Amino acid sequence: MRGLEGRVVLLTGGGSGVGRAIVERFLDEGARIVVLERDPAKAASLEAIGSGDLSVVTGDVTSYADNERAVAAAVDAFGRLDVFIGNVGLWDFSRALVDLSPTELEAGFRELFAVNVLGYLLGARAAAAALRESRGTVILTLSNASFYPQGGGVLYTATKHAGLGVVRQLAYELAPEIRVNGVAPGGMATNLSGPKSLGLDQQQIKDIPIQDYQEKYSALERVIEPADYVGTYILLASSHDALTVTGTVFDISAAGTPQRPQ
Ligand SMILES: NC(=O)c1ccc[n+]([C@@H]2O[C@H](COP(=O)([O-])OP(=O)(O)OC[C@H]3O[C@@H](n4cnc5c(N)ncnc54)[C@H](O)[C@@H]3O)[C@@H](O)[C@H]2O)c1
Repeated sequence: MRGLEGRVVLLTGGGSGVGRAIVERFLDEGARIVVLERDPAKAASLEAIGSGDLSVVTGDVTSYADNERAVAAAVDAFGRLDVFIGNVGLWDFSRALVDLSPTELEAGFRELFAVNVLGYLLGARAAAAALRESRGTVILTLSNASFYPQGGGVLYTATKHAGLGVVRQLAYELAPEIRVNGVAPGGMATNLSGPKSLGLDQQQIKDIPIQDYQEKYSALERVIEPADYVGTYILLASSHDALTVTGTVFDISAAGTPQRPQ
């Protein structure tokens, strides 16, 4: 039997990066998936997979109505919701506090927190009733920056540390029916981009030598692909393999803190 046979999953940001890797592997493992994705081209590319077990909703995680539509799409298409995976994030390209003008600091704060933190809360809020009914689970994509400095600038690090608090608090608030955990990957060469308010929306993390950093400075000294991180999501999304796990974040960044080259 495949590990996620029959599990119904809602994933945000499945168009590229680790989200896309989750979609592909979860389908192989027998899950049925709804993806909430903002980018229409990426949504079309997901639809091109052509699986009856995959449904795509175009929308923005910072809109409660869009999160609600995505939950409704899962329940309408597949009859239930077992797993909510909040995964959409923006990075700040390691902009330091004193390199941000006060205006940028405020605007960047609002945009990064709106996507990286509020987006997860809106998704969890929209999914809570359906997850309570199924005794389901929430999984949030966090980061090495949830534990360590230098995984970004202060704004990104603050949002990803906030994610840790969200996991710990919601594990109690949504208990005993719903388990809540996080997965903290480390650097990978993806389309991860930055806030428009900082002029970083056209940049992508894959344009910097992130894989070199990972290979040189992580404990495992290897290049890591998004697909390498997916196993922990499968464990947490399983109907039976993580039943005692809640309120925790798996640091799977292979590194602790990747040190930037001097
Ligand atoms: N890439 C890394 O080095 C790295 C390291 C640690 C953690 N992470 C975390 O992994 C998660 C996924 O990032 P990724 O690297 O796979 O990036 P990615 O940009 O490749 O994937 C994110 C997806 O979300 C979509 N998206 C962006 N904003 C959206 C919005 N407002 N509403 C709906 N969809 C939206 C994008 O179009 C994209 O398909 C993020 O939470 C990120 O912080 C990434």
